[in-house]
Formats: sequence, structure tokens, C-alpha cells
Amino acid sequence: MENRPLCAKDVISRISEIGSLPQTLAAVLKTLNNQMSGAEEVAEVISKDVSLTFRVLRMVNSAQFGRRRKVTKISEAVVLMGLNSIKMLTLSSSVFGMVNDPELLRRCNIKRICRHLIETAINARSIAIETKYKEPEEAFVGGILHDIGIILMLLYFREKYLQVLDRMKADQKGITQAEKDVFGLTHGEVGAEIINSWSLPPKLAFVVENHHSPNATSMIPEEIELNNIIALADHLSLGPFDDYFPNVEENIEFVQLVGRKLNLNNTATNKIRRDSIPESIKLAEYLELDIGDILDILSEANNRLAELYFSLEKLYLEKQKLQTLVNGELIESTLESVQ
Ligand SMILES: [Fe+2]
Ligand SMILES: [Fe+2]
Repeated sequence: MENRPLCAKDVISRISEIGSLPQTLAAVLKTLNNQMSGAEEVAEVISKDVSLTFRVLRMVNSAQFGRRRKVTKISEAVVLMGLNSIKMLTLSSSVFGMVNDPELLRRCNIKRICRHLIETAINARSIAIETKYKEPEEAFVGGILHDIGIILMLLYFREKYLQVLDRMKADQKGITQAEKDVFGLTHGEVGAEIINSWSLPPKLAFVVENHHSPNATSMIPEEIELNNIIALADHLSLGPFDDYFPNVEENIEFVQLVGRKLNLNNTATNKIRRDSIPESIKLAEYLELDIGDILDILSEANNRLAELYFSLEKLYLEKQKLQTLVNGELIESTLESVQ
């Protein structure tokens, strides 16, 4: 199948064949989304996954929860941590478990993809809190899942998806254009399809499909709001690949446009971006996930900030220049009309 052009149907059907693969993820999400599920039921699902059980116990016994007595039972951990924290931890753990594929680890920078998902989720939750979106944890879940299409395409169409990465580098037109050129469809469309097949809330499928299109329309205002939150969070994070957002100035304009839609000022946006770095490092520790050397992460964050200021300054100067030109033309035409 790799040698002939793929159509949307091929991609979706191959992914549907393996739709049952992330079983823990689907089971955990279903249980957590069911308002009737109690701690015992959630604990039962978690207990079926050994590494997840270990992570939950590790987190509940960490300094953050300040317990003197060691917690050894998952049901007790669920009660102590609360369903929301459990949801965030289990979801992240299941998604990151999917990328733990030896061939994938050898061929691409998985650390960077994981870091992108963690940063986006943390940014999304902070934006949701700042803008008083009613379910900040839902924004976190959206952040972890928003690029699930990339993970699936990398897992099941590896060679073809590596062509997308080459195309992205060569054309500098961004990820969605490169995907359309190679596959004829985007990671958003693939991701939405799989979210629907897992029977997750339609709101999540909407944001997975549209997080690169902040002008996407919906009859449900909450879908638009959540999509804006994820779109902004995505742009505030380090991309999963080089050239994911090839143009820094377009990125800044995107951030400002979506920030305005969410009534978020620049100071709040910058604080969210700054705080996401230590929070991402902490979450990665809980998940025992290698997202890179801490010093590298911090120095890269500083470089990005410097690049951003440089571009902002350039944009400001260009606007000033434009304004001076417009003013000059106005004066000239006024003088002409007076003469
Ligand atoms: Fe994306
Ligand atoms: Fe993304």
C-alpha cells in the first residue's frame, strides 16, 4: 500500500483496523467520562495496566500530595488524587505508551513530540483557567490528544509520514499543507476520525480536526471556545518538529488573533508560556518521560523568547513605517486637494 497514492479511505480504514489498540486509553476515558463511575471502577481499569498502576502510586506518594503514610492501593490513590488528576495522568500515560515503538524512536525525535503534547496540554489548561472556561481538565485532555493524528500516521504510515517531514522542511508551508500534498488529508482529519471511533465527546473530535483553523465554525459556542484554547496552546508550545510553524511572524500574528478572541492580554499569554516550562518538566517526571535535558529545554525556551522579541520589534517597526507612509500620502493628497 505504501507504493501507491493513498486516499483518505485507506488511512482511516487502516487506522480503524487497529482502532482497538490503545485499549487502556479508551477504557480509561470511557470510565472517567461516565459520571456514574466511582473510585472503585476507575481503580479497576487502572489496575489492568501495570505501568499505569506504578505511575499513579508514584505520583500519589510524591511530595506534592504530602502523605506521611505510603499509599499502596489504587482505589485509595484515586480518592486522594481526585478523578481529574487521575484522568490527566492516565490519559497522558496511555498516549505516550503508544509512541514507545522502537522503530519510531529510532527514526524520529519522539522526545520532542511528547514535549509538544505536554506543553500544549499544560498551556491549554492554564488558558482555560485564565479565560474561565468551565472545564480546564477538558482543555488538558484536548491538548494531549490534539495531534493524535500525527502519532497514528507515524505509527501506521511511517515511511509516508517521514516524507511529510521532508516536504515540510523543503517547502516551508507548514504541516497541514505538507500532509495534504503527501496524503491528501491532514492529521486533524485522521485524529477526528479516531476520536469518533472511540466514542469520545464530539467536542474533542471538533478541536482535534480544527486546531489549525481558528476560524472553523460550529453551532456550539463551546466547541469554538475550546478550539481557540487548543489552537493558542499549540502555538505557544515548541512544535513537534522543526518547521511545524515555519514563519515566526505568522505565528505571532496567530497568537495575537486567537488571544484577542479569547480576551487574553499579552501579559497573561506570556505568563502562561513561561510557567508551562517548569510544569511540563514536572509532569514529564511523573510520567517518567524523557523530554530532553532540563538545561537544554530552558536555554531553548530563552532562545525562542529572544526570537519572538526580535520578530515583534520587526513587526512594530514595519507597522510604524507603513503608518508613516500612509500619513505622508494623506498629507500629500490633502495638499493637492487644497491647491
Ligand atoms: Fe496539529
Ligand atoms: Fe500541535
